Amino acid sequence: RPKTRTHHLLAKKNAGEKWAMLTAYDYSTARIFDDAGIPVLLVGDSAANVVYGYDTTVPVTVDELLPLVRGVVRGAPHALVVADLPFGTYEVSPEQAVATAVRFLKEGLAHAVKLEGGERVAPQIRALTAAGIPVMAHIGFTPQSVNNLGGFRVQGRGDGAERLVLDAEAVQDAGAFSVVMEMVPAELAAQVTHKLTIPTIGIGAGVECDGQVLVWQDMAGLSQGKAAKFVKRFADVGGELRRAATDYADEVRRGAFPGPEHSF
Ligand code: KIV
Ligand code: NA
Repeated sequence: RPKTRTHHLLAKKNAGEKWAMLTAYDYSTARIFDDAGIPVLLVGDSAANVVYGYDTTVPVTVDELLPLVRGVVRGAPHALVVADLPFGTYEVSPEQAVATAVRFLKEGLAHAVKLEGGERVAPQIRALTAAGIPVMAHIGFTPQSVNNLGGFRVQGRGDGAERLVLDAEAVQDAGAFSVVMEMVPAELAAQVTHKLTIPTIGIGAGVECDGQVLVWQDMAGLSQGKAAKFVKRFADVGGELRRAATDYADEVRRGAFPGPEHSF
């Protein structure tokens, strides 16, 4: 199986072939997802929530994300590994964006970066692309701006639809190789998908996007609390892990583990 590159995703769009992307934050899960044939893995700044336990993605830093990227890249020989640029590390200027992205490629060994925003980050996307760094854009609901978007809300409704289309076109024109659309009405996401020549990746954006992405803990049932409407749980890994830990502790208490077959 060849290593996934950005041109493979473009070819899939042109062939009408849909594909799945997942987040990953460590070596062990990256190996499993790569083995399962997931072509793109995202070391999301959602690590803020699922790895570090912060309430939002705002506080997570490059130094917190970099070691996770290194682990994922080692575990995923076939996947295209995309690293999220965290809040505050690219907005100031195109130069700041390039300096941060270079760290993710040089120290993290990522293949591409993702950043949030449409037209407002077009200069950053242009500079990154010129520096040889593939960029995945992220529009619609952008969690790093949660304080400015009035909470977790669907974007692109009413007047917002025109804004969303302009943002999609702006990131494509600036050189992004793909664009994530988060919490966008399905019909609008379908329109954007057909209008753009680059692949769209949906999360809460309907079935017409070229690809789909989910946070793996949401997809596998490891997250706590009420899941977002766009999440489907494909397994109950949390329940299974809890059962395993409970059984292990119980067998240790009863003296049933370790048995002779586990002893030297
Ligand atoms: O950080 C993340 O996990 C993301 C995806 C859900 C798109 O940005
Ligand atoms: Na993210």
